Order: sequence, then C-alpha cells, then structure tokens
Amino acid sequence: MAYETIIVETHGKVGIITLNRPKALNALNSEVLKELLAASQAFDADPEIGAIVLTGSEKAFAAGADIKEMQSKTYVDMYLEDFFSGWEAFTRVRKPVIGAVAGYALGGGCELAMMCDFIIAADTAKFGQPEITLGVMPGMGGSQRLTRFVGKSKAMDMCLTGRMMDAAEAERSGLVSRVVPAGELLDEALKAAAKIASLSLPAVIMTKEAVNRSYETTLSEGLRFERRVFHSMFALEDQKEGMAAFSEKRAPNFKNR
Ligand code: HXC
Repeated sequence: MAYETIIVETHGKVGIITLNRPKALNALNSEVLKELLAASQAFDADPEIGAIVLTGSEKAFAAGADIKEMQSKTYVDMYLEDFFSGWEAFTRVRKPVIGAVAGYALGGGCELAMMCDFIIAADTAKFGQPEITLGVMPGMGGSQRLTRFVGKSKAMDMCLTGRMMDAAEAERSGLVSRVVPAGELLDEALKAAAKIASLSLPAVIMTKEAVNRSYETTLSEGLRFERRVFHSMFALEDQKEGMAAFSEKRAPNFKNR
C-alpha cells in the first residue's frame, strides 16, 4: 500500500511507522488514522515483525488532531461519525508499540503517544493537552489515560491550563519510561524494540495483555488474570526453551519469535 501521511519501514524484525505531515507538524487527520491503522495492523499480522516503533519528526511527534479538519464540524457531525472512536483500534494492536517522541506531542499527539505501550522521549519532547485553549477538551483519551498515568493533580493542571510538560517532568511523573538525547532517540527506540522482537512472541503478547489489564480492572481480578496467563505459559515451547537455556548457561533459541 502506498502511504501519503506516514512512512513505513522495517529494521530487522522491527516495524517503523513515521508520521509524515511536516507542513502541519504531523497533525492527525482522518487520512493519518486510516494509514496508521493499515500499517500497524499489517505489522501485527506479519510473522517477520516482533515489535513496532511509532515516531514523528524532530520538531513534532504530532501537534494534535487536525484543527482545520474539525473546525467547522457540528455536534451532529461529530456524534454521528463518533469522531475519534477509530483511534481505539490502534490500541488493539497486539504486538508491542513503542512511542518515540521528539518535539511537540500535543492534544491528540499526546493522546496517541499514550496509546503506545510505552514512550521513550527525546530531551526535546513537550507533552500537553491544550484543547481547553481551543474551547474544547481532550477527545482521544487524554482526560482518562493522562489521569491514570500521571495522577489527578497533574492531569487537571495539564488539561485545565493547557500548559506543556517537558521531557524531564514527563519522566518524573511516569508519563515516559526514559529520556534520551534527541540524536539518539530512534536508535534507542529501535534497540528496545529489537530486544522485544528477539524474545518469545506469545510471551511478549501475553505480557502486554496482562499489563494493560492492570488499568482495565480491579487489583484482585488483575492478579487472577495474571496468574492464569502465567500458568498458560507453561504450555509454550518457548517456556521450556527459555528455562532450559538458563540452566544450561546458553542463549535461548525461541521458536516463536
Ligand atoms: C492543524 C496544525 C496543528 C493542528 C500545527 N498546525 N498544529 N494544523 N492542526 N493541531 C499547522 C499550523 O497551522 C501551521 O500551518 C503549521 O502546522 C506550523 O505550525 P506553527 O504554528 O506555524 O508552528 P510553531 O509556531 O512552531 O508552533 C508550534 C505549535 C503550534 C506550538 C505546536 O503549532 C500549536 O499550538 N499547534 C496547535 C496545538 C494544539 O492546540 N493541539 C491540540 C489540537 S486539538 P500553516 O499552514 O499556517 O503553515 C486536539 C484534540 C481535540 O488534538 C479534541 C477535542 C475534539
């Protein structure tokens, strides 16, 4: 498939999707959504791919949902289209997705980064939910995911004032897993993704599912889910191989990766 708003590449077993609307700072319109879903679902289905990196440009991961596309819509348009609901499909990608964020991740850009399984930020990254300054509020999960990730006080501060958070604050508050120098962002994200892609794919997907379960359910249900999935892993050849390799002091040769 030929893409117009994203660039799709592979690096070994890692699929790389780069948002590519430089003139609009990667603002997310319906074309980006369509292409991002197609590319991520294709990587999800590709047995040669074990993990995905989603990134933008040096200046912007994405400066938000496309304001110009939304501007003239009415309530009925938004409601009947169930505008933004399509983005949820991105969170149903089963293989791990690492968000590699440099520059602006604002509004829908911040929300898209939060849909990734974890975020590696460049020291230039700036996160924000500035929708309130446009007379609206986050519509792609910002009021919910940001609150779960950084807590109520900081989420309120961000969503009500529209201020940006720099990379250091984002790391301090748990929004991102690590901060790296901007020049090393893609390498670091690829290194993490390649590590994941070298491991047992069923074990990786089950682990992602279990961690995600932690914010979809109660602690006791989550712990029960974790235990059941953990038990089921003993049906994997990769469990036998991984533990045998440890005992035999050699590198594991996972069958399903
Ligand atoms: C459409 C956008 C855009 C956006 C930037 N552009 N952000 N177009 N939607 N979200 C366009 C600009 O119009 C401009 O196009 C070009 O990208 C470059 O942007 P500049 O503003 O000239 O760049 P700069 O001065 O460097 O400022 C960067 C910036 C600023 C601080 C990121 O662009 C900005 O504030 N953008 C909007 C951020 C925002 O409010 N995001 C939330 C969107 S709402 P031209 O053609 O003029 O060169 C959202 C969810 C809505 O995400 C949910 C509620 C329904």
